[in-house]
Parts: sequence; C-alpha cells; structure tokens
Amino acid sequence: TSQPIDVQPETAALLAAGEPSPTGLRRFPEGFLFGAATAAYQIEGAVAEGGRTPSIWDTFSITPGRVVGGHSGAVATDHYHRYRDDVATMARLGLNSYRFSISWSRVQPDGAGPANPAGLDFYRRLVDELLDNGILPWVTLYHWDLPQPLEDAGGWPARDTAARFAEYAALVHRVLGDRVSNWTTLNEPWCSSLLGYANGHHAPGRQEPEAAIAAVHHLLLGHGLASQAIRAQEPDAQVGCTVNLYAVSPATDSPADVEAARRIDGLANRLFLDPLLLGRYPQDVVADLAGVSDFGHVREGDLATVATPLSMLGINYYSRYVVKAPEPVDGTVDWRGGGAVAPWPGSEGVEFVKRDGVPVTAMDWEIDAPGLAETLVRVHREYPELPLYVTENGAAFDDVVDPDGAVNDEPRVAYFDAHLRACLDAIDEGVPLRGYFAWSLLDNYEWAWGYTRRFGIVHVDYETQVRTPKASAHWYSDVIARHAVTD
Ligand code: NOJ
Repeated sequence: TSQPIDVQPETAALLAAGEPSPTGLRRFPEGFLFGAATAAYQIEGAVAEGGRTPSIWDTFSITPGRVVGGHSGAVATDHYHRYRDDVATMARLGLNSYRFSISWSRVQPDGAGPANPAGLDFYRRLVDELLDNGILPWVTLYHWDLPQPLEDAGGWPARDTAARFAEYAALVHRVLGDRVSNWTTLNEPWCSSLLGYANGHHAPGRQEPEAAIAAVHHLLLGHGLASQAIRAQEPDAQVGCTVNLYAVSPATDSPADVEAARRIDGLANRLFLDPLLLGRYPQDVVADLAGVSDFGHVREGDLATVATPLSMLGINYYSRYVVKAPEPVDGTVDWRGGGAVAPWPGSEGVEFVKRDGVPVTAMDWEIDAPGLAETLVRVHREYPELPLYVTENGAAFDDVVDPDGAVNDEPRVAYFDAHLRACLDAIDEGVPLRGYFAWSLLDNYEWAWGYTRRFGIVHVDYETQVRTPKASAHWYSDVIARHAVTD
C-alpha cells in the first residue's frame, strides 16, 4: 500500500526509522493504515428503511431540547443510499482503510432474537464495495446507538445488555466474518456510559451517576463477551476496542491541581484502560467513586472476561484536559462541587480551564498535538504491549464554501499535519502504532450538536447531499500517496 520511492538503501533505512530524510519526507512504517472513520447514526439516514427500528438516538434526537436545532439523524448524509459514491470518493482519495459502524437496530431490530436479512445485506454490499476498491473494512459494532427496546429493558446499567451485545456481535460476525477481519467492539465507552447516563447530554439522556458506573462495567463486560463470541467462531479474528483518551495536565503544580489531574485521568482514561488491559479497576478511582457506587454490580470472573486479550487497541484523540481543583472552603476541598450533574461522578467540582494563547477548534477543544504523542507513549509504557491504532483524530471548524465551490480548510490541514507528526514522534519512541483514521470522512451528525459542527474532510451540502472534498482531503490524499509527511 505504500508508494515506492526511489532511494538509496542508507536513505531507506533512515526513512524506515521515521527520521526526517534528506528529501524532506518523514515516512510512515510499511503497511501503515491511512483511513477515515464514520459512524452509522451520523451518516446513514434511512432510519425507517429496510426493517430498521429506533435506537436510543432516534428517540433522544426528537425529544425537545436535547439536540441543537432539534436535528436528528433521519436523513443525515443519506449514506445508506449513496454508499457506492462514498466508497468511490474514498478510492479516489487513496484511503487504504475505512472505519465505519453497524447499526444494531438495522441488523437485529429488537436488540435480541432474529437477524434482519435486509439490514445485514446493506453492510454486505458496503463491505463488498470497499473490498472491490481495495479498501480494508474496519467494523465497529457499537457506536452509541443502542436499540430502543434494550434501553426500555434497562439499557447499559442492566447486566443483560452485555449478553445481548455478545449475541449481536456473533450474529454480525457470522455473516460478515468471511470478508471482514478487523472488529472493534465498542467505540468510546466513556461517552456511552458517562454522557449517556451521568450528565445525560447524550442518549438516552439519563442523569443517574450510579447507573452510569454500572453502565461502564456492562459495556466493558459486553466487550469481553463479544470478543469471546467472535473468537469462538473465528479464533484468529482481530478484535479490539476503541477508547477515547485525553492527555491530562494540572493547571498549576499545586498539590490540589495535581490531585484534580489524577482524578480526571482516572475517570477519563484509566477507568477503561485498566480493566481492559490489566483486568482490574484502578483502586484510586474506585475510592473517588465511593459516594457514587459500591461496584456491587461487578461479579466474580467479570474482570477476566473484560480483559480477554485484545488484538489491538483503538485510541480516539482530540485534545488535552487542563484541570484545576475546586477552591477549598474552610480548608477543605469539596470534589463534589455542590453535586452538579456532570460526566465526572465524584469529581464534579473539578474545573476545566483553557490555556491562554492555545488555539481551539469549533468545539472549543484546545489543539494539542504533542498530547497525542504523549498519550500513545503513555499507553505503550504503562500497559502490556499491543498494536495501537489512532481510530479517530480530527477537528471541527466553521468551513466556508468559496464562490467556486472549494473549501480551503487550512486550519484542518494544519491540525492533521501536526497530529500525524505526533504519530511519527510516538513511533520514534517505539510505540507500535499501525494506523490512523481521520475523523471524519464526511461532515455529519455531530450528536447533541446536530449538523452545526463539521468534522469532514469531505464537505456535505445537507440541502443537496452534494459531496465536495475539502483542501484537507486533497492534502491527506497526498500524504497517503507519499506514505509520508513533508518537512
Ligand atoms: C468521537 C466520536 O466517536 C464521534 O462519533 C464524534 O463525532 C467525534 N468524536 C467528534 O466529536
């Protein structure tokens, strides 16, 4: 997949090592995957076609006051009908892989019981189209869209949902396993649990911190059971999980701010990494959560299931959290911060600060590319060795369509350039990073922000559904063709 470049053997060795080269190229390792990512509810539309039934996002998005502008994924980018054109766009850009997710409600409408052949057929056609174009399919089984009947039965706080997820995974693998070899169980379980059930900013919109901690566990358990179910059918299947990780720093070096950073790193990163990769919950985080959950939902043997060996770990990286402790009152720091409902149970009082002079994206997220290298190196050093992939990285900006129809999204080009260099820095440090997926292929439904935030490398006109590759898509295409960034 890498572009041959005519170089002397000494130069080739330098290039292979990821060093800046005399020709001004910093090359990626052989076989490195360059892809783009999407998720079913964000792009497919066709929510009531082919036997699909509602997921929690269908319900949540039409609930007044939940999503900006009352936007829903009912039409989205109409990818369900336009997937052939979208694959053709990927092929033109030279992507060698594509990460997408499967809508559970499309392939198993009740979230249990029989499969829906029409739904499975859509994904079979999509996968065949990708393979025909030489693009490796990377399938995510769960990108936040729980079938509504399963939420009605308790959702992720209910243990049974984990078993249902494993059944669904096995059902999809039975049909697509002959042509898909890379499987990701969950996308960003932090969001599914803590945004969904603690602060309610995401579907299903519940504000029940204790249930959110049970949801964390049942998502992780579902991941483990699904991995085992897939491997029972295909022992060599590549099965991983994708977590959203943050670089975390204290706002100052005061002990209280350092403690705030420990807490947020615990809830954002280690609460997921430790069970998945070490088979245990981090004890400091369990202690921070003592007033929220007694972890009574954890049964014997669960953590061994959660820690079923991964073939690879997917990391979604966007930004760094810089955090500050709550002001002490009478010498005591109240981490609960008055009990506001936040996605940081037990540490609601922590303040997230913006650093002066650090640019932000349209999401108001600080741009911090070194944080990506730091995160990758940290996972590599602190956890058992395994192949890593950046399964998402990207930025929303207020793109402007020029009169000639072009979108010159220079800030996004700069974002990708800096983060791809951070990937190379991590590789230089010995991190076994094997691929990178830009978020996102298309502008799409940005959850609670509706269509008001654009992350695509390809612009979508939501009135006409016309797709226009932005400058960042052309730039990325050149990177892929050279298998290198230029100095
Ligand atoms: C993470 C999620 O996986 C994806 O669905 C979302 O659109 C991006 N980050 C941007 O917020």
